[in-house]
Amino acid sequence: MGQNTISFDEKEKIFLLSTEDTSYMMGFSPEGFLGHIYYGKKVNHVGGQRLLHGAVNNEVWRYRDGITYRSIFPYEYPTGGVGDFRNSCLEIENESGQNTCELVYESHRIFEGVPELPGLPHAFRGKDMINTLEITLADKVLDIKVQLFYSVFEKENVITRSARITNCGKEKLIITRAMSASFDMDDRDYEMLSLHGSWGSERRIQRKKLAFGSQMVSSKRGVTSHMHSPFMAVVSSGADQDMGDVYGMSLVYSGNFQAEVYKEMIGNIRMITGINPDTFKWHLEPGATFVTPEADLTFSAEGIGKMTRNYHDFYRNHIIRSPYKEKERPVLLNNWEATYMDFDADKLYAIAKKASECGVEMFVMDDGWFGKRDSDNSGLGDWIVNEKKLGCSLKELVDKVKNLGMKFGIWFEPEMISEDSDLYRAHPDYAIRVKGRKGTLGREQMVLDYSRKEVRDTIYKMMYDVIKNAGIDYVKWDMNRYLTDLGSAELPADRQGELSHRFMLGVYELQDRLITDFPELLLENCSSGGGRFDAGMIYYSPQIWCSDDTDAIERLHIQEGTALFLPMSTMGAHISKCPNEQVGRNTPIETRCNVALAGTFGYELNIDELSEEEKSAVPRHIERYKKYHGLVSNGDYYRLNSWNDKKSFDMWENVSKDSKEALVTYIQVLCHPGVEGSRVMLKGLDPHARYELEEVTGHSSYKKGQFFWGDELMNIGLWIPQLRDFESCLYHFIKSE
Ligand code: GLA
Repeated sequence: MGQNTISFDEKEKIFLLSTEDTSYMMGFSPEGFLGHIYYGKKVNHVGGQRLLHGAVNNEVWRYRDGITYRSIFPYEYPTGGVGDFRNSCLEIENESGQNTCELVYESHRIFEGVPELPGLPHAFRGKDMINTLEITLADKVLDIKVQLFYSVFEKENVITRSARITNCGKEKLIITRAMSASFDMDDRDYEMLSLHGSWGSERRIQRKKLAFGSQMVSSKRGVTSHMHSPFMAVVSSGADQDMGDVYGMSLVYSGNFQAEVYKEMIGNIRMITGINPDTFKWHLEPGATFVTPEADLTFSAEGIGKMTRNYHDFYRNHIIRSPYKEKERPVLLNNWEATYMDFDADKLYAIAKKASECGVEMFVMDDGWFGKRDSDNSGLGDWIVNEKKLGCSLKELVDKVKNLGMKFGIWFEPEMISEDSDLYRAHPDYAIRVKGRKGTLGREQMVLDYSRKEVRDTIYKMMYDVIKNAGIDYVKWDMNRYLTDLGSAELPADRQGELSHRFMLGVYELQDRLITDFPELLLENCSSGGGRFDAGMIYYSPQIWCSDDTDAIERLHIQEGTALFLPMSTMGAHISKCPNEQVGRNTPIETRCNVALAGTFGYELNIDELSEEEKSAVPRHIERYKKYHGLVSNGDYYRLNSWNDKKSFDMWENVSKDSKEALVTYIQVLCHPGVEGSRVMLKGLDPHARYELEEVTGHSSYKKGQFFWGDELMNIGLWIPQLRDFESCLYHFIKSE
């Protein structure tokens, strides 16, 4: 065993999980119920059993009033029907149609490594020694075993949880609820932090005081959705970027989910997350096992910023697998906003050629190159190159573009089928649909039944051929509608309730196949922008198109919310033309560049259509991206100011892990008369070091080459003059030896 991150005190019967800054403790009731003791700032000593809520230790209650006892017991994996009336983690029905469940401790083991979650994205150990605690609980009446897994990621202060449910008996069981994790804590006037949004306006930060009862974010849309993210945090009242207690819970799943905080009058809170039970029902045959997605828990006693950095480190080190995570991503140009579907090979080549002259490294051909596809009402499912439209074979176009020294990428929407497609005419049963109903269309298309291997294989074969034959370097995998009319032509009646989850497993399987067959391929996910941007998808693709709203000012909210728990290196961010296609706003190209630098950087336009001044900025901006990309992708992220808080500017800082370098980005939103500027304290620097302002772009009070002490910048701060509407400024500091 590596570090001693998990221990069991035999005498006191306490499990203690330790990360660098946090402790997580569990114990037992005399009946063998597994209960939560503590999660929070590191505690090195515990005297004895102290399950939450004193009444748990009240003998009279325990024997005389089992209901009261159970209804306050801080179950680690609560079950339904026996007295805990809060939402539970597990509900199972047996052949008699009854669904009570009571789990009692059976055994435990501690092992090195992480549990396998077949078919699901999950944390891997990477370069670190990771220990896992496996606790087995059982219900003798249902004859089930539940194995709870807790893996401890010491450096990143993250504990991952998942559960494996096995039918050990002879009856057929139906799981109606199988959540990934839950824990109870005392209420201390906490607030809930979550992300909400809509198409083009994803992941806005919402914070509100916890009310009694249930507050939840969830999705039944088949994807995690534009509306909610499978992430929530409970924060102490008044917590800010640097101070306060913060409990984060992020689900590594990309389909229907629920994340709930429940508060009761007795002063107790339950945080619980997992697959959304509203669209889930799973048959568990004798001997079969069901595995829940993973939930990633973190705690910070140093405010929201530390929670963010814990998650960023964790996702970079233990979830993102792509070889590109440490490589520089090619600067790409995507033709969507430049041409939409109106193009041929000559038009695309001309755009690529101009881009290559300016230093762009990859050309991406978006929607419209396949089947019959000149508008969004046809062609999906026919992944055959439309050579007539292009005017040549795809290979010819790719070779020509590659001769410019560029890579070539292509768009697919593999989970979809158009009514007007050869695939649908041949296999109408491939679409998800309820017998007898016409079905609701979204963007005039239907969703393929990915629970069926035959359907996945058919699509994959077409994709494989296109990628292989033309030598494609990058795929943008899109998903442009939600799931409705849940019906599969193949699943038996008693398994129809499994469709949403099986669909998700099918998507994961296909993405896995793609990156396994093409290990060098750069995969970027997308779902009408950022409709499926979660910790699950980054297991397959190191970057995700953040939003269809490419306006630099709108992107400030979107990128701030996304980076609240997901690394900046995952955010697909491009410079687009002005007036902006979505909001009609004009912003300086400098600002469009500085906002896109916070993500994967690229272009969503035809460079030839830019003004001469803007055109001349492109090579300079690409150089800037190359200079700062490593720092932004791999460093620590500090949020210095938020436009979300109704302030007039947005500001963030990226600091290298060794504190030798820092990049500060200031974006003026609306400027106001009478305001000279603001003093802003930097963070994460070495207080005793001298820093040189190595580069400053835009209007500033300081000059390149000026020196500052680390403690000066962090305590006295930088004076930032107010800029004109939508202008911006970058400050780059380097530690001088
Ligand atoms: C979605 C994507 C866009 C573009 C179009 C193509 O909306 O988010 O970037 O690829 O589909 O149809």
